[in-house]
Amino acid sequence: MIYSKIAGTGRYLPEKILTNADLEKLVDTTDEWIRTRTGVERRHVASEDQTTSDLCVEAAKKAMESANVTADDIDLIIVGTTSPDLIFPNIATIIQDRMGIHGCPAFSIEAACTGFIYALSTADKFVRAGEAKCALIIGAEIITKLIDWSDRSTCVLFGDGAGAVIVQPSDEPGIISTHLGADGQYRDLLYYPVGASKDLAKAGLGDSRIIMKGNEVFKVAVRTLGNVAEQALKANNIDKDDLDWLVPHQANLRIIQATAKRLKLPMDKVIQTVQDHGNTSAASVPMALDVAVRDGRIQRGHLILLEAFGGGFTWGSVLMRY
Ligand code: ACO
Repeated sequence: MIYSKIAGTGRYLPEKILTNADLEKLVDTTDEWIRTRTGVERRHVASEDQTTSDLCVEAAKKAMESANVTADDIDLIIVGTTSPDLIFPNIATIIQDRMGIHGCPAFSIEAACTGFIYALSTADKFVRAGEAKCALIIGAEIITKLIDWSDRSTCVLFGDGAGAVIVQPSDEPGIISTHLGADGQYRDLLYYPVGASKDLAKAGLGDSRIIMKGNEVFKVAVRTLGNVAEQALKANNIDKDDLDWLVPHQANLRIIQATAKRLKLPMDKVIQTVQDHGNTSAASVPMALDVAVRDGRIQRGHLILLEAFGGGFTWGSVLMRY
């Protein structure tokens, strides 16, 4: 039996940091409001000329270095993103070309904040089917270019970044299980109103803005993330006490705390980066994973639950031994 495992991780954050104090100068808000309602203290923001593939290439190089693989080894590229460089060609092909990789399948998955979990779950299937031996999987966003910087209810939440992993075959798991889900009846609670076949000519992409009913998103997010975690543990007959780490989507500290409380997990088993990164959508889980791998908290053999929730709504989890 072939399993898949994560062989290396990497992340890249744009240089520019926007603090809550900086936002106080832009909109009617306070550091205190942002910290207490969201947990965010600062976020990284891409420069005008940076594209999402720029972030991806840097994160990918770090993941490849940590897995000790080269461009010649990569035989699959999947990118979870909702803010690709172009409508087409898909961003994975742009990254592929920029990294000097040729011929392997390269595609992107759009599942909002759950994009990386969807991508990792897909890679797991390719590897277990024997169709990939060295997959480059990325979650990345430049979400700040989709934000209305005069809308205080959304502009304080988001940030940019990219996280990458290398997935390879293994005799032992590795990835133990993945669970994905979606329910489009909630699409009006969180969306971007302009796309390739809807109103693009009327209002250009950059002239539009994220629409979110924050309160309602909050409630469904807490409920769903709790359910997703319980589903993964139950399916594998694993007790939550056996988990070494929960790596949740970093949308809001209060959502993360509510999920941990529901699972009765102490917060010191929960990786938190929302204070430094803000909500980076599909980039949040792989970046949080990389932070904790590189600072030594996550070690080889640890049992880890990754989980995310995003616009659609979409959701998913990956239970794995690192
Ligand atoms: N600064 C100061 N006041 C603000 C700000 C701000 N930045 N934003 C909103 N307010 C005000 C509102 O206008 C409102 O004022 P009012 O009572 O006079 O009308 C008040 O604060 C309370 O607003 P609420 O929306 O009820 O505040 P809430 O406690 O729900 O917090 C928040 C808002 C942070 C957006 C919260 O609902 C949330 O985090 N929701 C989930 C959002 C999220 O996670 N989205 C992404 C998930 S999926 C994905 O990642 C794509």
